[in-house]
Amino acid sequence: MDTPRPFVPRPEPHYEDEPDPQPEPLDPGEGHRVNAPEPAPLTQHGPARIIAVANQKGGVGKTTSTINLGAALAEYGRKVLLVDFDPQGALSIGLGVQAHELDTTVYNLLMERGVEVEDVIKETGVEGLDLLPSNIDLSAAEVQLVTEVGREQALGRAIKPVLDRYDVVLIDCQPSLGLLTINALACADEILIPLACEFFSLRGVALLMDTIEKVQDRLNPDLKILGILATMFDPRTLHTREVRQRVQEAFGKLVFEAVINRTVRFPETTVAGEPITTWAPHSNGAEAYRMLAREVLAR
Ligand SMILES: Nc1ncnc2c1ncn2[C@@H]1O[C@H](COP(=O)(O)OP(=O)(O)OP(=O)(O)O)[C@@H](O)[C@H]1O
Ligand SMILES: [Mg+2]
Repeated sequence: MDTPRPFVPRPEPHYEDEPDPQPEPLDPGEGHRVNAPEPAPLTQHGPARIIAVANQKGGVGKTTSTINLGAALAEYGRKVLLVDFDPQGALSIGLGVQAHELDTTVYNLLMERGVEVEDVIKETGVEGLDLLPSNIDLSAAEVQLVTEVGREQALGRAIKPVLDRYDVVLIDCQPSLGLLTINALACADEILIPLACEFFSLRGVALLMDTIEKVQDRLNPDLKILGILATMFDPRTLHTREVRQRVQEAFGKLVFEAVINRTVRFPETTVAGEPITTWAPHSNGAEAYRMLAREVLAR
């Protein structure tokens, strides 16, 4: 199991002055929807689809994908709630929220009676995009929940009162398959798995699939795999193209057509504290997450 790393943005200065590279189109394969349609506008909101963004491997783009998919869905008029479910608080920080200064976070929501989800929700700078922030306090919840009755359902119980107000809830999981991630999978309708196009990325996916099956058997029979998102793709290296091809062969139409390129723009957005869709709205990265949002809404 990977232990959580301290959150350090890793800029790659050698890409700084180059335009974002374009991914090479791959044969999307049978059953693939080419160019997911523009989503229809909504006249009313809810009930929410709950999507857990999970992979126990660290640094594969879970948090980046949660922020930017959420922001792209909000651009399409969806009401979105992002749940920071990692004690590192990277999702909160990436949206410019100084979570370490907050008195009430997801931790209080899970562990204290009388704290309501409405008291913890924060609006972000993006219209339609709200946040349930976390900080290091959440690491204590993992320990304290162990002795609670219904310990796997704590998050589901906590967010239930607001599900009617949102169209999509995205849960950013920590890089582990511990009790917090199990809580996310127990209340989710679907799981989105970011997979970095790197040599070792397929290692550990079997363990993740095994965990998903156990959760389906024991806690949440309706949990589905929404899709697998190829991230950190560098079209200039044969290596990442090969890894992406292998991912495509292994998972077929579960793989989203949207591919997230490796670009310094993403670490920059963390520093800026806003999604790429507002920080660099015309970049490839912003477009890729919009394409992912269309695919998610079409699935
Ligand atoms: N497509 C990308 N290109 C380049 N850098 C990226 C990309 N996506 C994310 N990053 C950077 O890589 C680092 C890890 O990304 P991110 O935090 O989204 O991964 P994670 O899976 O949430 O990590 P953890 O497992 O630690 O929670 C961050 O510094 C982020 O800015
Ligand atoms: Mg993360």
